[in-house]
Amino acid sequence: MATQRPALDVISHSPEQTRSLGARLGRLARAGDVFLLTGQIGSGKTTFAQGLARGLGVASYVQSPTFTLVSEHSGHTADGRPVTLYHLDLYRLESADDLVTFGYADYFADPAAITVVEWPERLGADLPDEYLLISFDHLADSKRRLALYPRGKRPEALIDAFRTEVFGARRGSAASGN
Ligand SMILES: Nc1ncnc2c1ncn2[C@@H]1O[C@H](COP(=O)(O)OP(=O)(O)OP(=O)(O)O)[C@@H](O)[C@H]1O
Ligand SMILES: [Mg+2]
Repeated sequence: MATQRPALDVISHSPEQTRSLGARLGRLARAGDVFLLTGQIGSGKTTFAQGLARGLGVASYVQSPTFTLVSEHSGHTADGRPVTLYHLDLYRLESADDLVTFGYADYFADPAAITVVEWPERLGADLPDEYLLISFDHLADSKRRLALYPRGKRPEALIDAFRTEVFGARRGSAASGN
């Protein structure tokens, strides 16, 4: 799903570091934001989603909704506003018909919710207008690369804020050597 140069990339050296990155992004998120997490099996998508949930103050542990396609959690954004977190895992989605039956569009359309999607490739061309795509690469046993690609103005702003949060006010990303 990601071909061009990422706006930001970060190396994680442990599951906890990946969760912590997710939590930082979660604290910057607001209702309406959509995160698409792409990457092979075991690359860290669910681990990151757990962090996002933590950053949104979700009390319950987020497991991959493998058999349910979607799980729903109550949290709040950093300013204290209540928000719903939808966690979709489309791995088992087989056809375009499944997609329609499942009613995926309702999740993206919910203005009071933040949506995180694993295996967004299954959506085909049915992507939301704006989203932040994060591509996960398995580099070594406990080493993962996260590459962030914005689609739209809000995701661009979110990446800028995340970059500052992770690397400080400097330009570029230390992890990518800029
Ligand atoms: N730096 C790291 N970041 C994330 N996970 C890591 C890291 N190092 C090791 N791991 C391990 O890799 C696995 C990642 O699993 P996770 O369920 O997050 O992957 P996934 O991308 O959601 O896979 P799936 O496509 O099957 O849903 C976990 O067992 C985790 O402990
Ligand atoms: Mg997963």
